[in-house]
Amino acid sequence: MVRRKLVAGNWKMNGDRASLAELDGIAAAAAAHPGVDVAVAVPFTLIERAAERVPALAIGAQDVHEADKGAHTGCVSAAQVKEAGARFVIVGHSERRGDQGETSHDAWAKSAAAHRQGLDVILCCGETEAERDAGRAERIVQAQVEKSLPDDADGSWLTLAYEPRWAIGTGRTPTLDEISAIHAIARAKMRHMIGEKADGIRILYGGSVTGENAAAILAVENVDGALVGGASLTAAKFVPIIDGAA
Ligand code: G3P
Repeated sequence: MVRRKLVAGNWKMNGDRASLAELDGIAAAAAAHPGVDVAVAVPFTLIERAAERVPALAIGAQDVHEADKGAHTGCVSAAQVKEAGARFVIVGHSERRGDQGETSHDAWAKSAAAHRQGLDVILCCGETEAERDAGRAERIVQAQVEKSLPDDADGSWLTLAYEPRWAIGTGRTPTLDEISAIHAIARAKMRHMIGEKADGIRILYGGSVTGENAAAILAVENVDGALVGGASLTAAKFVPIIDGAA
């Protein structure tokens, strides 16, 4: 099955109003490559301005609460990010698993909450370095997918992202064969869970993707795009990755 490539940026806790100027160049690159989907998840505070500035670009959030509303001080709901202009949300990112103790079950509940509001979801999974060294990477990813993939998932709203934690922000990446192996296992797991619908779900690779390595990674079977952190913060670094997907 042919799946459109998706190149998604994750600004994490970076950026301010002035940084939004970077989105102009990113939107121009997206327009130049109509065969590639481009998205950027910005901090909550920038969603509304970003969505207004570049309406053609998919702007997203980096987290939502699993509940639709209520007494959850400091949290933000899917409806709230949608009203601000977000079209998608990243859930289950390893930094939230590590920093906030989020689990795969939390990622499942947040995916469902986002979907209830009509938001697309990028659902993250990935092993730690210790887990990889212990030969457990494949089992960890399988277990994360099993616990976080909603039963009603399909490619119209959900994307899976494989991000080995040890490759995030480190300049290290798995080999192309290692990426291929995990993506194949993740797809097989999704197929086992939800059948043929799994074939429409894109699987992104994330972790130290740059303009230099993007084209090779994106050419790997079952790699349907990239989730990019540091190199998504400027158009100068992000646009070559978009070019690499075209
Ligand atoms: O969500 C993207 C991310 O975790 C990868 O970060 O900086 O290694 O591209 P980076």
